[in-house]
Amino acid sequence: MDKVTVKAPANIAFIKYWGKKNEKLRLPANSSISMNLSETYTLTSVEKDKTLQTDRVSIDGTRLNGEALIRITKHLDLIRGMAKEKMFLRIESKNNFPRGAGIASSASGFAALTLAASKAFELNLSEKELSILARLGSGSACRSIPDGFVEWKVGETSESSYAHSLYPPDYWEICDLIAIVGEDSKKVSSTEGHSIAESSPFYKARIAGMPKKISEIKKAMKNKDFAKFGEIIETEAVNMHTVMMTSKPPLFYWLPETVTIMESVIQWRGQGIQSYFTIDAGPNVHVICESKNTDKLKIKLKSMHEIKKVFINKPSIGATLI
Ligand code: PMV
Repeated sequence: MDKVTVKAPANIAFIKYWGKKNEKLRLPANSSISMNLSETYTLTSVEKDKTLQTDRVSIDGTRLNGEALIRITKHLDLIRGMAKEKMFLRIESKNNFPRGAGIASSASGFAALTLAASKAFELNLSEKELSILARLGSGSACRSIPDGFVEWKVGETSESSYAHSLYPPDYWEICDLIAIVGEDSKKVSSTEGHSIAESSPFYKARIAGMPKKISEIKKAMKNKDFAKFGEIIETEAVNMHTVMMTSKPPLFYWLPETVTIMESVIQWRGQGIQSYFTIDAGPNVHVICESKNTDKLKIKLKSMHEIKKVFINKPSIGATLI
């Protein structure tokens, strides 16, 4: 097959994955729930090239080497192994958002790479198989494979830990306005962060509370109860960041601007603009609202000098060939 191009969305976790029960297999400590994002994505082109002696990867115009390249080559070796192929790949990947700033570029990146490389090697994998493979590259990437609103079931084995769609993108008209306050790569990667999560004295309680939280959010999603849903996601984000901040060493992903926006969201809610925040492993704030409030919130966010850029996302389909 000639050049294969895939578009894969980033996803925002409403119930987060933080901490693993198996490091090597990237098996999470808990199930998680997310939404794929329409305007925040990775485009990856992959070509087999028999002249290459190694995989040649560029991301956003920069050629990868060292650890970053090794991580990708290891992932491609898995796919080459499945396809019984030896050939190296020429890969070009572009994100339309800042990488490493907590907008899950590893999720969209590994989801795109997994689908593109498997197609280049003419493997016809099911959604479940693709999700499992993407998880082995970067945990949350498994959630960027299926469409719309997604659940990654915790699973006990590699075979049973994958994501599936709960609802298609048009199920619920909600929006994620991502307020960008910092575009630098994060100092501590999520891979490192997961590995120290257990050192927080609050970690055990977090994990113990997960099954109840998951069933409550699923109920709120089923009933399209936005107030209940919002309350759960906001508390959940603060819960995960509490674990991060109390790990050894402590991880502080927030900037002062992050807190300003969190407080503004609570204030706007008090004024009747129903919205809730969530934050991944970075300083940027995801403001979640029903579509009817998107314009009002866009104006509010754009008028804040703390915010450099706002990405407005609707729910999206998962990784697709284009
Ligand atoms: O897939 P990773 O290793 O980049 O971890 C993602 C961690 C969070 O974004 C903080 C939470 C999540 O579930 O996406």
